[in-house]
Amino acid sequence: MSGNGRIALVTGASRGIGRAIALGLAARGFDLALNDIEAQGAALKETADEARAMGRRVEELYADVSDKAQVQAMVADAVARLGTVHAVVNNAGILRASDVEHCPEDYWDSVMDVNAKGTFLVIQALLPVMKAQGYGRICNISSIGGKHGAPEQAHYSASKAAVMGFTRVLAQEVGPLGITANCICPGIILTDMGRVNLDDPAISNAWKAKTAMARIGAPEDVAGPVAFFCSDDSAFVTGQTLNVDGGIVLS
Ligand SMILES: NC(=O)c1ccc[n+]([C@@H]2O[C@H](COP(=O)([O-])OP(=O)(O)OC[C@H]3O[C@@H](n4cnc5c(N)ncnc54)[C@H](O)[C@@H]3O)[C@@H](O)[C@H]2O)c1
Repeated sequence: MSGNGRIALVTGASRGIGRAIALGLAARGFDLALNDIEAQGAALKETADEARAMGRRVEELYADVSDKAQVQAMVADAVARLGTVHAVVNNAGILRASDVEHCPEDYWDSVMDVNAKGTFLVIQALLPVMKAQGYGRICNISSIGGKHGAPEQAHYSASKAAVMGFTRVLAQEVGPLGITANCICPGIILTDMGRVNLDDPAISNAWKAKTAMARIGAPEDVAGPVAFFCSDDSAFVTGQTLNVDGGIVLS
């Protein structure tokens, strides 16, 4: 499986799963447009430099994915600097835990804005580019939380279920244009966000016990399946959702 010099845009690429996806794509021969918010500038530069050290062309692009004007400018910038975008990974996401009864309205709004609307805005900005070249690979990062979920994550679960529904219909709209759209649902992955579930050893051990592979996931575990959806190996796969969770849902 190889990127063959194709260009991929990865959002939220400074750390965690996004960083591992960026480096996984670089190792497979993709050039990269790497996005994050400006506050993550130093970390994004580190990811970008690691990918450059693999011989790839890499551009850093700052934008809040929930802001339409910033997203439009980011996509225009990516195309201006790299020539085009062939594949996109909508990875940027946030989690703000609260039970439903006490959930502040701004938790609901911000989580939906980044996770669901951000995915929509990036795709909307990119579709003219992909349509013009008759080619595109879209990989949206949802979550097993969007299928099952856990207490204090109802709004997060809703945002990730939205990403799956959006992707299924998007796949039908863009299929005739040579564009595929699929989702990845990571399980419990050790990142800054994942620590919410993992800091307490009792919770961490309970997740391991529920997982067929009997371990917590690493960000790198997600990169290969994402690269598959970004490559031509998945040319006739679209509208699908793949769990990358070590078998949690089998328990
Ligand atoms: N860690 C897990 O267990 C897990 C499980 C399932 C799904 N996910 C999903 O995987 C993705 C990555 O999660 P992670 O665990 O690496 O989280 P993380 O918090 O470590 O990284 C998220 C990245 O997104 C960036 N980001 C946040 N808001 C942004 C915005 N408005 N615009 C641009 N960038 C923004 C952050 O700066 C950060 O670099 C998220 O969509 C998350 O919901 C994570």
